[in-house]
Amino acid sequence: MSRFIKHVGIIMDGNGRWAQLRGLPRYEGHKRGVEKVKEIIRSAIRLNIDVLTFYAFSIENWQRPKKEVEIIMDLLQNHLRKETQTFISQGVRFKMIGNRDMIPKNILNVIEETESATSECKELIAQFAISYGGRDEIIRAVKKIIINNTVPEKVDEDFFSSMLDTAGIPEPDLIIRTSGEQRISNFLVWQSAYSEFYFSQTLWPDFTEEEFTEAILDFQKRQRRFGKVSEFTRP
Ligand code: FPP
Repeated sequence: MSRFIKHVGIIMDGNGRWAQLRGLPRYEGHKRGVEKVKEIIRSAIRLNIDVLTFYAFSIENWQRPKKEVEIIMDLLQNHLRKETQTFISQGVRFKMIGNRDMIPKNILNVIEETESATSECKELIAQFAISYGGRDEIIRAVKKIIINNTVPEKVDEDFFSSMLDTAGIPEPDLIIRTSGEQRISNFLVWQSAYSEFYFSQTLWPDFTEEEFTEAILDFQKRQRRFGKVSEFTRP
């Protein structure tokens, strides 16, 4: 089924609104959001997708109220601790993209432990964008290039891609955003140059495996030309 789809990026939006609509605190929306992450990972494995990237915490999200940031970080930490064995049994390799310098040490330890425990898993790569901003990622790549005294002739698109957090990962074929917003919000800015987009009205905590499959089927009906005339040819 997923002949032409290797990588799906997901901007999980609407947790807060989902909770507010029910008179619940925002963290209840985030808690339910985590359950949806698990459901979509299972679904992606069944659909033979190679990579999923979840926008779990943007670099701008550090500016949210301290309490909410703490709750999201706790959820993340608990989720990774609890799920490591499941990741391994499902063949899921966990990988983080984002600015590691901004993450509290105890959280980063759990992230890096999970990365290392799942590093040999081959079924699916689950990338979590945490403390992530596309522009920040690009600036960090530029700094690496300068620090390494790279000669200008060496810098082309492939080389630049190899300096990003997503080095070695295929670019997203499809990016899904939930909750009715139609923006990229600093997610995979460089990598989404040729991505298709699927915008859903559903709030992330209500997103289902069925809608995920629908998004994939919708993608497969589209013709991707990458600026050329014929279908399915990459530059
Ligand atoms: C968007 O909803 C969601 C986030 C900013 C955080 C996403 C976090 C999770 C799904 C939980 C973390 C994931 C893991 C695996 C720990 P919002 O709060 O912006 O919703 P709103 O736009 O309705 O306010």
